[in-house]
Amino acid sequence: MQFQRILVTGGAGFIGSAVIRHLLADREAEVLNFDVLTYAANLMSLPGVEDEPRYRFVRANICDPEAVQAAFRDFRPDCVLHLAAESHVDRSLTGPAAFIETNVLGTGVMLQAAREYFDSLSADEQAGFRFLHISTDEVFGSLGDEGMFHPDTPYDPSSPYSASKAGSDHLVRAWGRSFGLPVLITNCSNNYGPCQFPEKLIPLMILNGLEGKKLPVYGKGDNVRDWLYVDDHARAIVTVAEKGQIGETYLIGGEAERTNLEVVRTICAILDEEAPHAEISDRSGLIEFVTDRPGHDFRYAIDCSKTQAELGWAQQESFESGLRRTVRWYLANTAWLDAVRTGAYRDWMEANYASR
Ligand code: NAD
Ligand code: DAU
Repeated sequence: MQFQRILVTGGAGFIGSAVIRHLLADREAEVLNFDVLTYAANLMSLPGVEDEPRYRFVRANICDPEAVQAAFRDFRPDCVLHLAAESHVDRSLTGPAAFIETNVLGTGVMLQAAREYFDSLSADEQAGFRFLHISTDEVFGSLGDEGMFHPDTPYDPSSPYSASKAGSDHLVRAWGRSFGLPVLITNCSNNYGPCQFPEKLIPLMILNGLEGKKLPVYGKGDNVRDWLYVDDHARAIVTVAEKGQIGETYLIGGEAERTNLEVVRTICAILDEEAPHAEISDRSGLIEFVTDRPGHDFRYAIDCSKTQAELGWAQQESFESGLRRTVRWYLANTAWLDAVRTGAYRDWMEANYASR
């Protein structure tokens, strides 16, 4: 499939911005970024897009049916990449309402608007339409020391975040089965890379390490995550939309299982080399074990062989090279980092995009 117009929700976020950078660099489609600009959004992650005639931006909420319907009516997408979500597990523990609203209700609004729009298309246009929902491996719950998640692993979410994503996955399948909407789902493991908001483990450790602050590791640091470089995820998303079978689920992972303690120690070692601190020679001394996350899933591991075999997708970045690349990105992009650190990125977006 070669799409003409791709509607990306959440395109100002960490993964959505990587998807849009990939689409503008490597595809010819027009791109509509539909994003309400929460705290997690940063349009500084899309440098130069204002000069790109194929790019448009709408500031609106996926929970607002009229705004979503207008986007379908005006932009007439042949592909929807639905990434907009509340994405941080710890926030879902202290404020679950926003997760239920955006991830469950918002996805319901997206599906219903997509269905109405799809029903208005000609048979040819319908044949060329896809709705891809970007989801997470966390819907499958926690693994013990052995085993991997497969596309048919039963759902068993632990946190309000993962439960809300599980709910959205079920809605997507229901709109496929009940209404014939051509849907696909991806469930991906932990992403890392440039432009990630520093509430998540890797950017938080990089920023704290740079500033010589404590590095809070939950519990004993023995929880395991499977890490994927964000540009590899962006390519996987576009590959699934273009080549995936309607109604199918595709798992995406980095085949890079690491304990949290291993990840933090590696970041410390890279920072000590790339950005030596005047007073701290070994940043691993900053590691501090703190109270564990409630309901903390022990281990995630993804079997992505189906995605590799059927669609020809393969990751390009190893964890070690990707992590060094990521640290170097944060060191080089001081304007992005300072704007996030001081909150200036919000003022800049409100000044430039308040009324759109
Ligand atoms: P993020 O928090 O960095 O970005 C989310 C984006 O969605 C932001 O730009 C935000 O403004 C926008 N958004 C939030 N609520 C909205 C609403 N109501 N209306 C319109 N826009 C809204 O998230 P991310 O890490 O880039 O994750 C993107 C997607 O990928 C999510 O669906 C997430 O569940 C999924 N995912 C993330 C990871 C990961 O490791 N980060 C892994 C697998 C899957
Ligand atoms: O698996 C995919 C998921 O990965 C995505 O769906 C989520 O959107 C994304 O946030 C991520 O969820 P995690 O909870 O795994 O990511 P986080 O970076 O918050 O935490 C990674 C691990 O590090 C987890 O085991 C908790 C731990 N941790 C996290 C933070 C923020 C710490 O030990 N200390 C910390 O300060």
